[in-house]
Amino acid sequence: MSKTIRKVGIVGIGNVGKAAASAIVHENIADELYLSDIDSERALGEAWDFADSIELTPSRTRVSAVPVEELAACDVILVSVTERKKVISSSRLELLKGSAAIAYDIVPKLKKAGFQGIYVIATNPCDIITYLFYKLSGLPRKQVIGTGTALDSMRLRRQISEVIGSIDPRSISAYMIGEHGDSQFAAWSHVTVGGKPFDEYEAENADRFGTIDRDNVEEAARHFGWEIHKRKGNTQFGIGNQLAFFAKSILNDARVITAASAVQEGEYGRDGLSIGVPIVLGRNGIEEIIHLNLNEKEQKSFNASADLIKKYIDQTLA
Ligand code: LAC
Repeated sequence: MSKTIRKVGIVGIGNVGKAAASAIVHENIADELYLSDIDSERALGEAWDFADSIELTPSRTRVSAVPVEELAACDVILVSVTERKKVISSSRLELLKGSAAIAYDIVPKLKKAGFQGIYVIATNPCDIITYLFYKLSGLPRKQVIGTGTALDSMRLRRQISEVIGSIDPRSISAYMIGEHGDSQFAAWSHVTVGGKPFDEYEAENADRFGTIDRDNVEEAARHFGWEIHKRKGNTQFGIGNQLAFFAKSILNDARVITAASAVQEGEYGRDGLSIGVPIVLGRNGIEEIIHLNLNEKEQKSFNASADLIKKYIDQTLA
């Protein structure tokens, strides 16, 4: 009997990498999990610590620590690496220099080692680093995916859920679009609750929750990461679980729709950048980019966000 061995790698075993690894081990997402970190002893310590917990997990994921080149045999590589001890004060863009230097170091090594799988990138600034991975890896664009506004979209659905009376966020369809950063925006024209357009749902239930302050809801989603960061100095579980969810969706060929940072070839009228939009996520990575027909205000916000990402990409690739 032959069974495909599901192999997942994580590069960068800090707070986010560890959260992703934990979700992978506890949800039986991979048969083999490979941890790689510039501090190889630390990666080994983490791998052994996971090995200690394996009797208590639903399967027996084999966790090992490897040099980055050895991740080349993986189906999926999750990228959560950041410059060590870098403190940021107001924007994810402050991480660009350090993250870009890391990309320039590791992507050629993995290319040389023959990596042909799928990259899922959480490293910030996510959209710019995703595009850099795409350029440096030479892989098809469907195989280089940023987590982008996936987490921000979950934050938006949760905010909406709270103002409309606690409907399960999974029954709400809503996306934050654009940069995984301050220029992202909510695509309100495409929000639905149980399939019902949000405008209608709001109007019909005005006696229950009045007029919803959309700017406030959107701002809360946009800045929620900072609210966490302010208090604990990082974000970890939301994004770590998000990485594990991407790996699971790819390995199971789930064809689930999620927001993600995707390299554009004209889909939203732009190319030469990666930016957060809804995609279909499956075995081949980005199976499809969902093109939302944005209204004029939203398209303007999209263009402003795209311009900002592009400016930094041009500087980084120059
Ligand atoms: C966040 C990090 C991943 O938004 O940027 O939590």
